Amino acid sequence: MFEEGQLYSPVTQHDDGTVEVHLSDNHPGRNDPAYLKRRGEIAGAALSWTRGEPIPQIDYTEAEHDVWRTVSHELAPKHEKYAHSEYLAAKHALNLPTEHVPQLHEVSERLEPITGWTYIAAPGLVPLRDFYGDLGAKTFNSTQYLRYGSQPLYTPEPDIIHEVIGHGNQLASPRFARITEAAGQASLRLETDDAMKFVADVFWFSMEFGIMREHGEVKAYGAGILSSYGEMDEFGHMEHRALDLVDMGTLNYDITAYQPVLFCAEGMDQLEDVVGSFFESVDDDLAARLRAEAATR
Ligand code: TRP
Ligand code: FE
Repeated sequence: MFEEGQLYSPVTQHDDGTVEVHLSDNHPGRNDPAYLKRRGEIAGAALSWTRGEPIPQIDYTEAEHDVWRTVSHELAPKHEKYAHSEYLAAKHALNLPTEHVPQLHEVSERLEPITGWTYIAAPGLVPLRDFYGDLGAKTFNSTQYLRYGSQPLYTPEPDIIHEVIGHGNQLASPRFARITEAAGQASLRLETDDAMKFVADVFWFSMEFGIMREHGEVKAYGAGILSSYGEMDEFGHMEHRALDLVDMGTLNYDITAYQPVLFCAEGMDQLEDVVGSFFESVDDDLAARLRAEAATR
């Protein structure tokens, strides 16, 4: 089982240079030696990459392209039906390939002209403060591996499908991109880990698992919903609560299961007013005050 907050499988590099990825007990690929070996190779490419060099290219197998294709094709009609129009418009503008796994530099080449964001390679877990610090500089740390092919509809750990189809499309919206950048810049002001965790949890219930009302219907805009066609089918049936920073920053959640509680914004303006403004202004004091308020409820 993961610790709370540990989204990604730990990676260790052995003395002989090989890289081992430790998958959790609930990961569908945990007993497949070929999958584990491949995960090690892909993590190794990011581990031996240094900033400033070209992003490592991964030579994806036909089976990996097939996973990308399957998920892209399954998600497309669900996005048309259940994604918020702000995400859909951005997705159409970004126009990602659906028939092959894109290299991260291809993602940057499409995204940068639209909102100025770029993608860099991560082996897996990136420390919270590094991840958010990079968001503040419009840089997205992305894994390059694919989810386990026999269970493509939901994976317990973010993969390139989540990072690129979920976040990449979202970051092609200037409005979502701005909120994400503000969360990143907030991290630079925060000294306490407690405040950092509060901000990351508000991010979780907005940019990762946010839903939003549009023309009387509830639509998804969170990257974690929009990359999982299993979760796309379920979010409408979950408990929907009004946006509330105290609740969002303190509610416990299980990172490896469909999210049973979701926070619904009334529209883009409200999302910016409540969540965007919070990221723009939060400091250690405000986070501590909101946390104290949770204790009195
Ligand atoms: N379930 C997501 C998918 O199938 C991936 C994912 C796992 C995820 N854990 C996450 C996304 C945590 C966001 C946050 O695409
Ligand atoms: Fe994510």
